[in-house]
Amino acid sequence: MNEIARQPKLLKDYAPPPYLIEEVELDFMLAPRAARVASKLRIRPNPKVATGGRPLVLDGEGLALESVALDGKALTPSDYELKEGSLTIPRAPAHPFTLELVTYCDPETNTALSGLYLSRGTYCTQCEPEGFRRITFFLDRPDVLAVYTVRIEAEREVAPILLSNGNPVAHGDIPGTGRHFAVWHDPFPKPSYLFALVGGRLAKVPDRFVTVSGREVDLAIYVEPGKEDRCAWAMESLKRAMRWDEERFGREYDLDVFNIVAVSDFNMGAMENKGLNIFNDKLVLARPDTASDADYASIEGVIAHEYFHNWSGDRVTCRDWFQLCLKEGLTVFRDQEFTGDTRSAPVERIAAVRMLKTHQFPEDAGPLAHAVRPASYIEINNFYTATVYEKGAEVCRMLQTLLGREGFRKGLDLYFERHDGEAVTVEDFVEAMADVSGRDLSQFMLWYTQSGTPELACSLDYDPHAKTARLSVSQVVPPTPGQTKKEPMLIPLKMGLIGANGDELPLKLDGKGVVNDGLLEITGREQVFEFRDIPSPPTPSLLRGFSAPVRLTVSLDPEQIEFLMRHDKDAFNRWQAAQTYATNLLTAASREGGDLSRVTGKEALRLAQALGQTAGDSSLEAAYRAEFLKLPSESDIARELARNVDTDAVRAARESLRRTIAGEIGSSLAELYEAIAPQGPYSPDPESTGVRALRGAALDLLVATGKPSALARAERHYREATNMTDAISALAILSHLDAPARDEALAHFYARWQDEPLVLDKWFAVQARAARSDSVETVRALLSHPKFSLKNPNRVRALIGSFVHGNPTGFNRADGAGFELLAEQAYEIDRFNPHVAARLLGAFESWRILEPVRQGRAKAVLEALARRQLSTDSYEIVTKTLGPS
Ligand code: BES
Ligand code: ZN
Repeated sequence: MNEIARQPKLLKDYAPPPYLIEEVELDFMLAPRAARVASKLRIRPNPKVATGGRPLVLDGEGLALESVALDGKALTPSDYELKEGSLTIPRAPAHPFTLELVTYCDPETNTALSGLYLSRGTYCTQCEPEGFRRITFFLDRPDVLAVYTVRIEAEREVAPILLSNGNPVAHGDIPGTGRHFAVWHDPFPKPSYLFALVGGRLAKVPDRFVTVSGREVDLAIYVEPGKEDRCAWAMESLKRAMRWDEERFGREYDLDVFNIVAVSDFNMGAMENKGLNIFNDKLVLARPDTASDADYASIEGVIAHEYFHNWSGDRVTCRDWFQLCLKEGLTVFRDQEFTGDTRSAPVERIAAVRMLKTHQFPEDAGPLAHAVRPASYIEINNFYTATVYEKGAEVCRMLQTLLGREGFRKGLDLYFERHDGEAVTVEDFVEAMADVSGRDLSQFMLWYTQSGTPELACSLDYDPHAKTARLSVSQVVPPTPGQTKKEPMLIPLKMGLIGANGDELPLKLDGKGVVNDGLLEITGREQVFEFRDIPSPPTPSLLRGFSAPVRLTVSLDPEQIEFLMRHDKDAFNRWQAAQTYATNLLTAASREGGDLSRVTGKEALRLAQALGQTAGDSSLEAAYRAEFLKLPSESDIARELARNVDTDAVRAARESLRRTIAGEIGSSLAELYEAIAPQGPYSPDPESTGVRALRGAALDLLVATGKPSALARAERHYREATNMTDAISALAILSHLDAPARDEALAHFYARWQDEPLVLDKWFAVQARAARSDSVETVRALLSHPKFSLKNPNRVRALIGSFVHGNPTGFNRADGAGFELLAEQAYEIDRFNPHVAARLLGAFESWRILEPVRQGRAKAVLEALARRQLSTDSYEIVTKTLGPS
């Protein structure tokens, strides 16, 4: 392995490029084994850098170089240096010049799916973050922005559709050859990572959008022929996202066309290439019988996300990859706001916080912890993390909370106006926010530079004589790898005080008037707030709407938490109270080997009653009620335990609580289940989706009673399902059981869907996630199933990904069999697709919270893996996960 590739890159070493590339002409001749790429680059020395004949070093990987010419004059090998990874022209001119290159790359053997590759016969590209260098030699860095003109030529039979970024300018046949061409021009300067090309035999689903200022945009979704009937939802979502971005953020689309292409082999979810988004087909294709409500929701969210990048990412991009949160955190924040406005704001907030706590909190607490803007990385592909994305979105949300919606909007407007067409930094973004608000945001910058989840401890003391309530707040940011000393952060703490009758009390701060919007700003390590005119002991509701990505501890007794779960007017905190109540029981029981009866008598029953009451409250949205019926997950419990985790005990505790709750409120759940049975054809609208979620959650709990009537109901739910949502929720419920009904349903599902890859992925995933003691063996057997392939990332994620990320008890099995399975499969995948392998290996990140036996097994497996030949990607994950020895 190349040791240079393993040297960390540092933010502080950033230097502007010595040369700029301002115009690019690319000419592609598509062929499976040798795609010819002729490029013509208009280059000039960067005026901001004292160049003086500095060498021009172009990035390039896996390319065959045919020719180089400078200002029309062919160069000979003695005029340049060619090594793996770069092409250097030592004596490049100190004036503007043209460089012409002809290279070849090999799409067919490109198994890493980065650069130009073939997916089921379709040529497509993935260039972010460093894939363009696998297409041609270039300054493959985001601060080099160029205007691209692209000509693509191919056999018409093989690739009747030829697409690239921007607007179409020409196309035609090359007579007598069976070949044809298309020319595209993108007027907006962009970095190479936003380049895209597609060539293939694809079906086009067209539509139109007229922007707020009257620009007519041709929209199209390209899919494999035969899949045209699965594009309607994606198209509808796109048009809603385009309108929403105009209305909410004043962002209008800027080209004549907007194209989306769906491909079957894709490392990620989707990619925001200017004017030509490329998607994993699972995030485009939906029909009621093939896609679940969850799929519809992710399609809507991801279509919006990639579209929103047109401004937050494409028009204003990142100076370097350390600034990734600038586009990703902001765009996740924007897509969350879109979903909140489109569906239910509280349910969307719950989903976002669940995601943050499940993925980002463990990352921040483990060996891979890094700041929202990391200071160093080895392989940038490993930094598309929950911290950059999810915590990055929270940081934007906190700015909106601190500045107010209007203030934040003004800040964003200024940011886009000031930096249109530029590659910028986090400082530029925060400066725009500071300028419009007149605020000093220097302490806020710590959210970008300090890693670790701040711990906020709060307690409330009531003085019955003075009628005051004192809120004491303290914050600690825990040490993380490479960051031992931390400064206190600026934490927006939204709160309320609730009187005995459930009313909100006005928050009158001694000497400072009434607290605006219930928002306190915590800035020090210790702070006290004294509220006056409080007639009787209040219950505090803290961190409303999850106003900051912190771990909150409040000293509340179970009665107070129960009070909040019944009365809190903040919908998020009301749900959070129920989760906290359950988590307290579950962690206590887990510490007792999973024996719930040793830690609770009446609490579990009180919880059951409160949940039953909320679930049955038809004044609340169905989707929100469904959230109450979902108990904290096994990984939620493990995270709260934080050390000495025995995953079998965790599962036992959770199952036991489910049984208790179901025993207590089973009959009302059964009634609810029957009462809300939907009528009429499937519709993916938020209301119907909520009802299906509520029914599914009720059914899931009911089956925990183990009663034959409940099993029969689950079987019927599967049999009578008229859409994928009902079918897959019933199949998931049955998959955990040791009953013939499980095998029958799985066999039925397979027989029906074996030729539909995206649906068959669900069949693999459901089995990998099943809460059964033989799940390692099940997964192992499925690895040799004729329909399994390591080469397709969706299939790998469905089986191996679902197991290692979605089945903590199976993966962390005490004998280490789960760890061995992952190490061995990731190693195989690493040889041809490092990106996918490294992502799977992320499942080891929490090995240190396990009890000693499991820890020992995980460590041994990781150490053995570290001794093998690994890609840079996997090497970084494995060695950092192991930590200093
Ligand atoms: N820019 C990314 C895609 C990407 C990620 C490219 C990593 C290269 C490496 C895209 O905008 C994105 O964030 N996609 C997400 C989905 C999104 C809704 C969070 C993805 O692909 O998972
Ligand atoms: Zn993104």
